[in-house]
Amino acid sequence: MLTSSTPAKPHTKWSDKQSKALADLTEEFTLSTAQLEHLTAAFIDQMQSGLAGDHKSSDLAMIPTFVSGRLDGQERGSYLALDLGGTNFRVCLITLKGNHDVEPNSESFKVTEHLQEAHISELMDFIAISIKDFITREHISSKIAKHRSNSNTLELGFTFSFPVTQTAIDAGMLLRWTKGFNCPGAVGSDIVQLLQEALDRKEVKVHVAALVNDTVGTLLAHSYKYPNTFIGAIFGTGTNGAYVEATRSIKTMPTPTAKEMIINIEWGNFDKDKRFLPVTPFDNKLDRESINPGVHVFEKMISGMYLGEITRNILLHLIDRRLLFDGTSSQKLNAHWSFKTEFMSQIESDTSPNLTSIAQILKQKLEICSKAQIDREIVKAVCELVGKRAARLSAMATAAVVRKGLSDGGHLAGDGYPLKLSEKHRVFDTAAGVNKSETAVEKVHERTDSAVVHDGNLIHVGIDGSVFKLYPHFEERMVEGLTELLGSRAKDLVPLNIAEDGSGVGAALAALIATKNAVHSR
Ligand code: BGC
Repeated sequence: MLTSSTPAKPHTKWSDKQSKALADLTEEFTLSTAQLEHLTAAFIDQMQSGLAGDHKSSDLAMIPTFVSGRLDGQERGSYLALDLGGTNFRVCLITLKGNHDVEPNSESFKVTEHLQEAHISELMDFIAISIKDFITREHISSKIAKHRSNSNTLELGFTFSFPVTQTAIDAGMLLRWTKGFNCPGAVGSDIVQLLQEALDRKEVKVHVAALVNDTVGTLLAHSYKYPNTFIGAIFGTGTNGAYVEATRSIKTMPTPTAKEMIINIEWGNFDKDKRFLPVTPFDNKLDRESINPGVHVFEKMISGMYLGEITRNILLHLIDRRLLFDGTSSQKLNAHWSFKTEFMSQIESDTSPNLTSIAQILKQKLEICSKAQIDREIVKAVCELVGKRAARLSAMATAAVVRKGLSDGGHLAGDGYPLKLSEKHRVFDTAAGVNKSETAVEKVHERTDSAVVHDGNLIHVGIDGSVFKLYPHFEERMVEGLTELLGSRAKDLVPLNIAEDGSGVGAALAALIATKNAVHSR
């Protein structure tokens, strides 16, 4: 049977040199279970140091989001939502109808390359005007009159998908830009204030009630459908995860008022010093040439913004050794970032005997004439290696968060949760080390294998992002990795589900939580 882990067999005979080059690449890009285990242990360690505020030992920011409390899917109301995190931003009107039902209405606007690097006030002014136009066009004011907090102002939840340290649900300072953005005037400033000032400047009667990361929005949106959702994750242009933590474990929170809180992990920055990640020269090249070298190294091995560029670097390496396309490249393929991750999706989807779609993509998008079938097979094999490594690293991060939650002191180990680790299973608390982790695997296997599956003991993961939704075999490969790390029933006990419009619906839910809290504290 051909599974996602079996590389497609070449139909043609590769030369010895070609076979050797591909075997070397396979070795560099394939992550064994033991390597994944080692990374999982390091990831949990960094989560713990981050929660303790020890940022010397941890690259994980572990940001408290000030979003606490459970949703039950019965919440009602209409809220504006703004979703900014990539090359488009969206303005939405989200109506929460109760009974886990949502009615979204949204409009997309392009963030041009100019705006991605313009002064932050220019970007915020453009957003404020777009919100104003949306409100007028859609007659929003009359539609949501009954849900306003006062007669004039509309409440808005803002999903801002960059690393922000929050000081309240409606305040947060940008730590750094990622995903190609570089607007001066924003790092170190309060993002809510910047947006509110622009709305006020443009006389738009909207109040920014809540600020959330897209992972937090995704977690909230999924919780509206499945109240015991534990993780929200994004595998798209960038990658990141958020989860529910017991506040007693968050040492960076002075006086926790709630029992649990969502933490934005900012896992894209995991192991930025490359102590554990098996980075290759192709990853290093990409990192060096990116606009944020030395940070978000993990994200650069996983997410849609980067996978195509890693693949391009490998293809050029093979061309330079005359092992591909007779040693000839094209101007297009020579250009940075010209090989998009979506080409990889199309290439991996081509199962035709002569790989005709691959030939078309190479011709149309990259001006490469791949006369030989052998070339197309090699291109496909390279995409498989890069795509599979991304999925397995994504599984590793997800499994680490699940294990952290189940370990003693973790949120899932608390009262009322049916799956528990007993005292003797506290192996997760110990530092990295394959042997210790192997014991951990056995214990998790033992526990998950004996657990009875019903919704109460599922660990729901809500996911959004183009790579997860569109990249062939990504989910299947993730499940394989999760099974290796969490046991044979991982697929059933840790379901990976798409959280539709996590950013829009999640922002609206955050606005609802914030306005309710504001009413209570008045
Ligand atoms: C950002 C995160 C975000 C992720 C997914 C990363 O580049 O740092 O804040 O959640 O992308 O959009």
